[in-house]
Amino acid sequence: MQALGTLVGGIAHDFNNMLAGITGNIYLAKKLTQDKPNVVEKLTNAEDLSFRAAEMIKQLLTFARKDRVNMKLFALNSFINETIKLIQSSIPENITVIQEISDEVIHISGDKSQIHQILLNLINNACDAVAQEDAPRITIRLEVLKVDKAYIKKHPSAQAGDYAHLSVADNGPGIPENNRARVFEPFYTTKDVGKGTGLGLAMVFGAMKNHHGFVEVDGIENEGSIFNIYLPLMDPQIAETSSNRNNVNTTQGLGETILLVDDEADVVDTGKHVLRSMGYRVMTAINGQQAVAMYKEHSGKIDLIVMDVIMPVLSGDKAAKQIREINPAVKIIFATGYDKGAQIETENEVVISKPFAIEKMSALIRKTIDS
Ligand SMILES: Nc1ncnc2c1ncn2[C@@H]1O[C@H](COP(=O)(O)OP(=O)(O)OP(=O)(O)O)[C@@H](O)[C@H]1O
Ligand SMILES: [Mg+2]
Repeated sequence: MQALGTLVGGIAHDFNNMLAGITGNIYLAKKLTQDKPNVVEKLTNAEDLSFRAAEMIKQLLTFARKDRVNMKLFALNSFINETIKLIQSSIPENITVIQEISDEVIHISGDKSQIHQILLNLINNACDAVAQEDAPRITIRLEVLKVDKAYIKKHPSAQAGDYAHLSVADNGPGIPENNRARVFEPFYTTKDVGKGTGLGLAMVFGAMKNHHGFVEVDGIENEGSIFNIYLPLMDPQIAETSSNRNNVNTTQGLGETILLVDDEADVVDTGKHVLRSMGYRVMTAINGQQAVAMYKEHSGKIDLIVMDVIMPVLSGDKAAKQIREINPAVKIIFATGYDKGAQIETENEVVISKPFAIEKMSALIRKTIDS
């Protein structure tokens, strides 16, 4: 698995760069052909496919542990409950979903988007597995588990310690014993072409390594499968203090002022609300020229600029150049519409690609202001 990880990690990385170039060019082509709706439609199809490919690559990068993780201390119970709510709408209605989520507050240190993806992949697999059952059933359980010698005897891949134990069980056909080791390999799939790529469990496997946990599969042939995820438990008291610390110092605003620059009214509007809700003051500009003017006027007050790159009148990178002439130490995050670095020299720049996860964005803003 290790060697495979190195191999796919390398391929995925190169592939990601090419894909970024492809989506970037499609984006530009779309802008140039706005008056030809049938061309735009074809380009949009190509764009959708590229983003699907990017999703695949993301799973591979997680498997190879090459993607960025954003570890945080949080209570897993409420997060799992929320995640299930989000996923529920995609579960076919004839499937009975049983939730047994412990009330005991279970703290872990983890990357929320990876945990979300893990649960999604396991539930998707369970849905596929029970598709032919008369009374399809999926059980999602979360509890605290002390892994001791007795447990390890029954579950040889387990490691001693206190864990949050998350499991997804189904009453599908199960997995033949001699195939169980293979299910975590990337591209191992028994599903029809177009139905599965065999990356879901590979992603889960890599993500569990990132979390210093482990995953194992169990079950009885013809009666169902159970996937068990084990995440190291955090002491709630430590979790409490450090997550408070996280909230105040790492991701929340302390009343600093951000100049938000984007030519799309929607982006500016929602961005303003989101940033304010995080505790920042916000000024806005709709192009580079306006941003330069605002900075000239308020330079002493502005702690950070978050700026789109492609904008009418004056682009983000050119605006940045002019602003840096006023203050070379100005802090700027570029929010790019597609590939990081496709349009600007990124070597010394902080860049985030749109659409960005709010959490990622808030952490990056905090980090950049504090730098
Ligand atoms: N709950 C399950 N019951 C029975 N077999 C399963 C279950 N989960 C996974 N498998 C087997 O493991 C294989 C690999 O699963 P994995 O999630 O990695 O890929 P996939 O579901 O085939 O495709 P993808 O997740 O990329 O769409 C599946 O094709 C299936 O054979
Ligand atoms: Mg799957």
